[in-house]
Amino acid sequence: MSKPDDKTTEISADTDSIEAEVSSAGGIENGQGDGSGGFVILFFIIGFVASLIIGWVVFPKLLYSQKAQPIGFNHALHLEAVSDGCESCHIFRDDGTYAGVPTNAQCVDCHQEVQGDSPEEKKFVEEYVAKDREVPWLVYSKQPDCVFFSHTAHVKKAGMECVTCHGPIGESTSLKVYEENRLTGYSRDIWGKNIAGIKRETWDRMKMDDCAECHEKEAGKRSSVQTDKEACFVCHK
Ligand code: HEC
Ligand code: HEC
Ligand code: HEC
Ligand code: HEC
Ligand code: HEC
Repeated sequence: MSKPDDKTTEISADTDSIEAEVSSAGGIENGQGDGSGGFVILFFIIGFVASLIIGWVVFPKLLYSQKAQPIGFNHALHLEAVSDGCESCHIFRDDGTYAGVPTNAQCVDCHQEVQGDSPEEKKFVEEYVAKDREVPWLVYSKQPDCVFFSHTAHVKKAGMECVTCHGPIGESTSLKVYEENRLTGYSRDIWGKNIAGIKRETWDRMKMDDCAECHEKEAGKRSSVQTDKEACFVCHK
């Protein structure tokens, strides 16, 4: 969050100096007819635009590597085929923990054989089901290993909707490209799409502050020591 602020002060400081530049250049021009002030401004503008392009366009391209999911998967199509909604595939185990990403066991009832003529289904059945290999799905919401998160507490106990934290993936017709931060190995969904850190929807990013922001809001209502922001051990075990 501090980056954009620094940038604005930098920009406004620079505009001040530009204004100073302009008025002094103008002064010289009127007095002695020296035109070099115009070049200074021109070079400043070229440099300024170049650094904006590097910061906002080139830098994110270099920082994130793009990976396609191993198989194209269509949520909308499957929601019509299954009988139990999201829980047909994203199941809570008997011990109450969340299985998260589905395994082939959730698919084989329908995909023991190829049934349609979709190349993605063919690949899934031939490369994975027939060879008894699990699909190495890439997880957009993956948190670093030091973070403890429980779907049971949020979905079962607090009754929260998937969309609050994940966005409308459950209704999508295709999986988006997975972007991995080359430095940290984090998914881009943790730190957010917007390079300036602007957040419009609750699912735009899921950093420590985003977890804490909701916990603070909810803590009053539910008065739980579990969600006390100071209690680091709640989320770091
Ligand atoms: C209740 C039955 C059912 C289950 C369970 C099911 N599918 Fe499907 N799946 C379908 C049907 C029906 C189609 C459409 C087949 C066609 O006509 O192409 C389909 C199509 C697909 C396709 C092709 C999609 C496309 O965009 O064309 C893929 C890939 C796929 N399924 C993967 C999976 C995976 C992975 C799982 C388990 C996590 C799974 N399916 C579970 C019924 C099911
Ligand atoms: C037929 C099986 C199936 C059903 C039904 C299903 N999903 Fe999925 N879901 C998958 C598969 C396969 C993936 C791919 C794994 C991935 O993207 O990491 C996935 C991925 C996701 C992800 C991405 C997790 C991440 O961070 O990578 C979310 C969120 C999700 N599903 C939500 C839902 C919701 C909400 C519903 C119900 C409206 C639903 N799903 C129904 C099979 C299913
Ligand atoms: C309070 C926010 C929140 C809600 C609500 C939520 N999730 Fe998640 N989900 C997360 C976080 C955070 C992770 C990453 C957990 C990790 O990496 O330890 C995650 C991970 C996942 C994954 C990948 C699982 C894995 O183990 O790798 C799937 C699939 C998923 N969620 C589906 C769902 C579905 C379906 C629902 C609705 C029933 C849902 N989530 C509700 C925050 C949430
Ligand atoms: C949109 C709101 C919201 C977001 C976002 C959210 N949480 Fe929560 N969290 C809750 C609520 C509500 C509870 C349940 C409070 C209670 O009744 O104890 C909870 C409980 C917990 C608990 C206690 C679980 C237990 O065993 O009792 C942990 C740990 C936790 N959250 C971790 C996280 C982490 C890590 C993130 C971010 C990746 C996160 N939460 C994001 C609302 C949220
Ligand atoms: C509500 C859940 C929650 C609580 C409470 C919490 N954290 Fe975190 N913390 C996270 C999540 C999620 C991340 C990973 C995302 C990120 O880097 O912002 C994280 C990341 C971190 C990291 C960076 C680790 C890395 O590998 O990048 C440090 C250090 C950290 N937390 C320290 C603390 C301390 C100290 C406290 C207590 C004052 C605390 N956290 C309380 C959720 C929490």
